[in-house]
Amino acid sequence: MLEVMVNGCYGKMGQIVCDLIEQNENLVLKCGFDKNITGEFAFPVYDKIENIVEKPDVIIDFSIPVATLTILQYAVSNHVPIVIATTGFTNEEELIIKEASKKIPIFKSANMSYDIMIMKKLVQWLAPLLKNTDIEITETHHNRKIDSPSGTAQMLADSINKSLGNERLGEVYVVGKDGTLQLKLQGKIGQTTLKVSVFNKNAAHSNSLKSVEDKIKNQITKYQMCMGCLGCESACRFGAIEIVTDRSGLVSYKINDDKCVRCGHCITHYDGGCYMRKVMCIKR
Ligand SMILES: NC(=O)c1ccc[n+]([C@@H]2O[C@H](COP(=O)([O-])OP(=O)(O)OC[C@H]3O[C@@H](n4cnc5c(N)ncnc54)[C@H](O)[C@@H]3O)[C@@H](O)[C@H]2O)c1
Ligand code: SF4
Ligand code: SF4
Repeated sequence: MLEVMVNGCYGKMGQIVCDLIEQNENLVLKCGFDKNITGEFAFPVYDKIENIVEKPDVIIDFSIPVATLTILQYAVSNHVPIVIATTGFTNEEELIIKEASKKIPIFKSANMSYDIMIMKKLVQWLAPLLKNTDIEITETHHNRKIDSPSGTAQMLADSINKSLGNERLGEVYVVGKDGTLQLKLQGKIGQTTLKVSVFNKNAAHSNSLKSVEDKIKNQITKYQMCMGCLGCESACRFGAIEIVTDRSGLVSYKINDDKCVRCGHCITHYDGGCYMRKVMCIKR
């Protein structure tokens, strides 16, 4: 028997999910979570995570982004897998969920319908066949819909863009030790420009925007012109930096995200970012 907690259990979807769980002999509705508890239910409902007594096997979430992030804290601290169906997250919130997925299993989709999954595959297949065609997504919402464009529309747009090769490299996020957003990098495959948004001017022990900018440039230099002196590998005491040379002699600088603890030491280790660059500049 799988014991389930439903987040947003008073909502339209939450109630449907609760009914379906109660009809399924392999599932037990252990408890619910929602705000402003009113009425009596056959299962306990909480509005504060610190009051939750039960430890479910899984959480199903149909709520609003702020409520998802609250229950996510509970899920991470108690090692409970979570199914997230809520939509309307900001990029920063998506990042928090992604970080959490490194600690607990998370299944997340803006649309859980099988039919929409088929539609997603269809538009992915169709888009490249419609050469020189403008593609527009229009949708009709019910009057209580909060997020617009909907998560489904955004998901379909992402699929179309991906199949057309327009996938953004980006929205590569750099997070700090505490998981908060420091930088956002955006670019497109095939383009030489990179947009960098700074969310914390104290990122990597900086004290001004100019200092952050210099450190970003230093770090980019390493990716662009690493000559494989291996200085950076030994600068990271967590073994997170790998300098890899392929068969053709091409050297690449890589950071292993699973090992990196975001101490920032690699960024401040050499003044110019890269030791070899400094040597070459002096020679010149
Ligand atoms: N992925 C999918 O397939 C799918 C399908 C339908 C709906 N959705 C999404 O699911 C979400 C819920 O949809 P709905 O139609 O049931 O909405 P709803 O407004 O009926 O329900 C939301 C529930 O969240 C609760 N809530 C709000 N703030 C809260 C807080 N701070 N703490 C705890 N609970 C809080 C509300 O009280 C309510 O019970 C929406 O984001 C919607 O887009 C996803
Ligand atoms: S100091 Fe420069 S050349 Fe040496 S490993 Fe680091 S990035 Fe590569
Ligand atoms: S931030 Fe720290 S742990 Fe991460 S690669 Fe740099 S030195 Fe290593």
